[in-house]
Amino acid sequence: MIEKSLKERVYSPYSDKDSEWCVILGSSGTAYPGVRVENISFPLTITSIHGAICSCLANGDKPVAYVTDFEHLEMEGYWTEQFSLDKLDKVLSSAPIYDPLLPLSIDTESELEKLSHQAVIPHSDFPVAALLKTGDEYVPGVNVELDSWALGLCAERVALFRAVSHGITEFSDILVAAPKGDFNSPCGACRQVLMEWMPRGRINLHHGDNSHSTHNIKDLLPYAFSSRNLSL
Ligand code: THU
Repeated sequence: MIEKSLKERVYSPYSDKDSEWCVILGSSGTAYPGVRVENISFPLTITSIHGAICSCLANGDKPVAYVTDFEHLEMEGYWTEQFSLDKLDKVLSSAPIYDPLLPLSIDTESELEKLSHQAVIPHSDFPVAALLKTGDEYVPGVNVELDSWALGLCAERVALFRAVSHGITEFSDILVAAPKGDFNSPCGACRQVLMEWMPRGRINLHHGDNSHSTHNIKDLLPYAFSSRNLSL
């Protein structure tokens, strides 16, 4: 049962919302799992319903329903109204669960190119694609823009959310391409989130002129926000 494993994957070191999960059903019939992924900078937290909706949209699917047994999903009313979501009691066992994993043997260059066409970018027309490297696979992400600009998610964070919701928490590298950018570089919010998950990791940036550069995540965010008063 997907519900049970999702509860175990919630990342909530800062709150007691340690069973906040949600599954979004897409119009294709696919189920997109989501768990709460908190951040030491609290406003960068991705809630389960928010991330699962973005994961669904980033796969070219349309959110139509959701399943959760968590009492108060943050902004539940907003999300259900925005996407006219029906609430269902359970995920049908026949529903395929979205599997984000791509083998390490993929050609990352062409995968990033292909992914960038899946970006949901009604406002910016600026596609970004990310491949988060775990031990044995890649997890893809693209940027998703919503009616509320403030609630869109960058490609890096869609990939991270999908990985954590899939039960993967160890990452070494992330590859990011912004085909319409010149010098591509991750935004401050993504730097903070990547610092939390892979402070010893590297980021490989694909620039508009086809050059690449690799950087240590920790070099991209000197004096990152942290506090011993917020426990990890
Ligand atoms: N974007 C990313 O996906 N990653 C970044 O690190 C920088 C910005 C996206 C967000 C938005 O959809 C578009 O680029 C313009 O800000």
